[in-house]
Amino acid sequence: RMRRRQVECRGDIDTFTPGLIALYESLKPSEEHKSKQQQLVDSLTKSVSKEWPNAQLHLYGSCANSFGTSHSDVDVCLQMEIGTGSTVEILLRLAEILRTDNFESVEAITGARVPIVRMSDPGSGLSCDICINNLFAVANTKLLKDYAQIDQRLLQLAFLVKHWAKLRGVNETYRGTLSSYAYVIMCINFLQLREPKILPCLQAMEQTYFDDTECTYFDEVHQLHDFGAENKESIAKLLWEFFHYWANHHDYRNDVISVRLGKTITKQEKNWTTRIGNDRHLMCIEDPFETGHDLGRVVDRQTIRILREEFERGAAVLQYDHDPCVTLFQPYTV
Ligand code: GTP
Ligand code: MG
Repeated sequence: RMRRRQVECRGDIDTFTPGLIALYESLKPSEEHKSKQQQLVDSLTKSVSKEWPNAQLHLYGSCANSFGTSHSDVDVCLQMEIGTGSTVEILLRLAEILRTDNFESVEAITGARVPIVRMSDPGSGLSCDICINNLFAVANTKLLKDYAQIDQRLLQLAFLVKHWAKLRGVNETYRGTLSSYAYVIMCINFLQLREPKILPCLQAMEQTYFDDTECTYFDEVHQLHDFGAENKESIAKLLWEFFHYWANHHDYRNDVISVRLGKTITKQEKNWTTRIGNDRHLMCIEDPFETGHDLGRVVDRQTIRILREEFERGAAVLQYDHDPCVTLFQPYTV
């Protein structure tokens, strides 16, 4: 049961591009934010290396994948040998150390899928999540950063979509809507599916060198800087198409979006046809490296309706509103 509505985009859609680009520019992190971030990393490095001198500190998430704003938190992964201890023991010890070193609101969250210590740094005012040996997160951070270098429309689209999602209240995984990471993956897949393509599928491209991890892909993205040049679509048009795709074209019942393969595949192929535990698989977004992980797993019957209504609203505002750059981002109020 596919709903396919053939709709033409309004003729003057491109006139909204400058306004959207200006908004995108205003969302990019300031130099001040970047230096605060560095300050946090420096003081954290100091605390950690006293106890674990061989630990390596990696930034992941939006502070390192180039999709971060001035409001983004700092995500840190510690890579270390854990020997006979467990990750949870390390995290509890880390929490102790951070409290002693005067970090604030230090909290070990050990029951989550990815156990973390969350804290805030009074020096920079930033909050920070720290995980241990989560090398998938480090790998997907680099993947997103590499995709962002191929065509600037990805960063523009993803910043606008993340901003829209925050203001419209649909970027809250604890309430059954989608993570920032999921929205970026949706944007990448969407640009892989444009005709002509705006992004390639890096994981499907020929390997140019051998690597001993599974997280390999073609990462010489400087060779691909004009990949999307044949496609001239403006950012306003693409934003409308993005909402239109998720409102009217995506086959929620049968399909899974896959950045790994650069296309959509079926739920059947993934065995994601029924609810398994808490994974409902109503809106399916395959993680590019942890392929058994559905980034839409938190979406339930109620929130899928809310999401689809918001996608429809986004498409309608861009199609009919006289001032879509303002109306689109009006905060949701009950
Ligand atoms: P903002 O902090 O909202 O700017 O975006 P972010 O990309 O940092 O998102 P978030 O803090 O939610 O997630 C941090 C990182 O965790 C992501 O960028 C991924 O690298 C990694 N990650 C892996 N799997 C998941 C997942 O299922 N959900 C989320 N949220 N993150 C995941
Ligand atoms: Mg983050």
